Amino acid sequence: MPRSQNHPRSRSPTALLLLLLLAVQRSPWTMAPSADGGKTLSTAEQQQVQKVVWRKSMAAIAEGNMRPGKELELISALDLGTIPWSHVPRRLKDHLSLPLGDRGIDSLALNLTVAVQAKDYTNGSVPLNRLTNFYFWATASRLKHSVQRLVVATTAGTRLPEDWRLNSGAEQRVYREEELEEWRRRARKEKPPKQLRSSKVDLERWPHQIECLKHCRAFLHNETQRDFFVQIATGGGKSLVMADLLADLGAGQRACVIVPKLDLMEQLAQLLETRLPDRQVSRVGTGSQANLSAQVFVCVRNSAWQLENLTLDLLLLDEAHHYEPVPGNPDPLSDADANLTSGIHARRVLSLKAPKRIFFSATLRNEPDFDFGLRPAITAGVIKDYTVMVPVLTEGDPRPRLVELIKDMIWLPQAFIKEDLGILQHRPRGQSLY
Ligand SMILES: *[C@@H]1O[C@H](CO)[C@@H](O)[C@H](O)[C@H]1NC(C)=O
Ligand SMILES: *[C@@H]1O[C@H](CO)[C@@H](O)[C@H](O)[C@H]1NC(C)=O
Ligand SMILES: *[C@@H]1O[C@H](CO)[C@@H](O)[C@H](O)[C@H]1NC(C)=O
Ligand SMILES: *[C@@H]1O[C@H](CO)[C@@H](O)[C@H](O)[C@H]1NC(C)=O
Ligand SMILES: *[C@@H]1O[C@H](CO)[C@@H](O)[C@H](O)[C@H]1NC(C)=O
Ligand SMILES: *[C@@H]1O[C@H](CO)[C@@H](O)[C@H](O)[C@H]1NC(C)=O
Repeated sequence: MPRSQNHPRSRSPTALLLLLLLAVQRSPWTMAPSADGGKTLSTAEQQQVQKVVWRKSMAAIAEGNMRPGKELELISALDLGTIPWSHVPRRLKDHLSLPLGDRGIDSLALNLTVAVQAKDYTNGSVPLNRLTNFYFWATASRLKHSVQRLVVATTAGTRLPEDWRLNSGAEQRVYREEELEEWRRRARKEKPPKQLRSSKVDLERWPHQIECLKHCRAFLHNETQRDFFVQIATGGGKSLVMADLLADLGAGQRACVIVPKLDLMEQLAQLLETRLPDRQVSRVGTGSQANLSAQVFVCVRNSAWQLENLTLDLLLLDEAHHYEPVPGNPDPLSDADANLTSGIHARRVLSLKAPKRIFFSATLRNEPDFDFGLRPAITAGVIKDYTVMVPVLTEGDPRPRLVELIKDMIWLPQAFIKEDLGILQHRPRGQSLY
């Protein structure tokens, strides 16, 4: 920005030094880490964020398949030493009264001197109004004293408006296709070390899990929507989807998974500890007190009160039919099913502070935003048969008992019970189920 860099060469060394001192004094950064009560980041924390973001961005670039514009956002951030907005720690945003969601600045240097907006309008012109929010947040907010470089990163062939070029004082950094390709090559070479090696199984996902992740991630980027409903059959691999979502968390972000029971808490916490070795996981339940400095909480719903003063970035709810808000009836206490659960706990869960919530269940009452219920799961071969239960059935014709068991285990739509289980019940003995 011209304001803060006007012709340094014309100044004397003393004036320069003075300027530098002034700049340093005005930067909120100098308050870190203790003078401001730990609201900004220490150097160690900055390095930690940089490291995590580098690894994740490279992994995402290597994997490819990002939404349009996202790749340029990541590559320009890696190139310019900035941090994508979603990974800028919340604490810092709060401290500077900056929006939590992406409102214009795509990435920011943790020392607050560089702000970047990426625009991939191949062979097109960027309208001025697509740049004004960026300009506003970088120059009119509390960043105005620290930001020295405004950078618009573009692909080759993306044109910026004349008015912008004349008036903004921003740089345009053009990333040619060859340069982008070089980053992709580099990313593929620099495979994320730990995760890839730890287990081959980590990489194997069912197509529906990948699809589900894609939808959840799109939701997480959508600022207008708070709740997202995922219907995924029991055994359909939702824990892994959750683990993958939690792996996306930025360094300063916090998330919580709500589970109905203690044994599920332990099971999921162990899974997360294995899959996310660089996150601190805290169990929250009867006998397990929350460690509020953790990044990921696995919380039994009865203990949700322990997290009441915490601001989370993401709340995942397992077996969510226990507390999903039903449109037009947002209060779970007045719900007809309140008896099934404990309404008071459901209300506590729903009042946890989180801008984004994803409800997972095999049997949602809401219209699911993503649906991979029992039937598609069976069709896709994800849930193959019920042999697991056969040892339970000892004598006689197992089929009626089997149907009862299935009915008991999971709630099924009536039509499904009639159609599918009906066939089962009336099928001659010995014929295979599927
Ligand atoms: C601030 O961070 C940017 C990007 O990481 C870096 O290029 C620049 O040299 C840093 N400036 C100072 C004064 O540390
Ligand atoms: C952009 O324009 C160039 C030259 O006119 C052309 O070769 C290229 O295919 C265009 N790219 C896209 C994505 O339209
Ligand atoms: C965000 O969510 C709202 C509400 O579901 C939807 O109407 C809108 O199309 C979504 N926006 C994007 C960019 O997907
Ligand atoms: C809480 O977590 C921090 C690290 O995040 C750790 O240093 C501390 O010992 C933990 N406290 C307890 C009581 O486990
Ligand atoms: C949350 O904050 C309130 C008000 O400061 C306090 O009374 C309450 O005990 C806190 N809850 C927990 C679980 O720490
Ligand atoms: C809860 O259960 C009790 C006893 O089973 C019943 O009388 C009551 O109507 C139920 N309440 C609701 C809201 O369903």
